[in-house]
Amino acid sequence: MSDTTLKATAAASGASATERFRTDKTTASGQAVTDTERVNILATEMIAAVHDVIRRHQVTYEEYNALKSWLISVGEDGEWPLFLDVWIEHVVEEVAGADRKGSKGTIEGPYYVPGAPALPSVSTLPMREDESGTPLLFQGRITGVSGEPLPGALLEIWQADDDGLYAQFAPGIAQWNLRGAVEADDSGRFAVRTIQPAPYQIPTDGSCGKLIAAAGWHAWRPAHLHLKVSAPGHETLTAQLYFRGGEHVEDDVASAVKPELVIDPQPTGNGGNQVTYDLVLDPAS
Ligand code: DHB
Ligand code: FE
Repeated sequence: MSDTTLKATAAASGASATERFRTDKTTASGQAVTDTERVNILATEMIAAVHDVIRRHQVTYEEYNALKSWLISVGEDGEWPLFLDVWIEHVVEEVAGADRKGSKGTIEGPYYVPGAPALPSVSTLPMREDESGTPLLFQGRITGVSGEPLPGALLEIWQADDDGLYAQFAPGIAQWNLRGAVEADDSGRFAVRTIQPAPYQIPTDGSCGKLIAAAGWHAWRPAHLHLKVSAPGHETLTAQLYFRGGEHVEDDVASAVKPELVIDPQPTGNGGNQVTYDLVLDPAS
């Protein structure tokens, strides 16, 4: 891939992720947080945590101004969704999912788009005729915590392609490529054909990339399938599945890997792999 293509991709993904977040009715502009005392406590303690770092490390005016200018550029680059979902979201998910009895979840990340094409329980994700990547058959059952099938269970899948790029956030990929909403059958089963995604590199030419370079970190997430599993009367599960032995499974920049989310697809004998992974939803609280 050329440098020019990569640059276009980074700029497009930040702007699209910001736009997507702003238009999502369920997450828009913190409308749910109206408890003054709660805001007071959270804001006071977050600011105090920053004061503590400044005192402990004797932060200089030079460093303070570098931070100020970096924070301004994160917004200008549209990279706040990327920054927050890589370095902060995993702890919010840890707190939110602590009491879950069903399947483990993990971060949603910035690239979910609702309204993907509805697909039957046995189906193939929309993909290009010459979509590259190892074919993957992903199958399983969606149940409640007692093993009961859930009428109306829906499995939304979104993923990067074999270049690590997401439709709607990188240019030149059809809108719903490698995205779909699979309706489980009456016994909760699904079987979806797709391809194994490539590891994903968070854009390196924007502000998040600058931080990574300045701190000597790496920008990689392991290859992953994103899932959102829902059924009436049940908690929606947001998860990702990773591939055993894959690059960066052990050092995900977004700290989102959990052992229960690592799958080990086996060869089918005709060039592809298959894996069975069951999904268990908690009752709505
Ligand atoms: C980011 C991208 C992802 O694909 C993901 O799953 C999580 C975070 C990001 O660029 O912030
Ligand atoms: Fe992702």
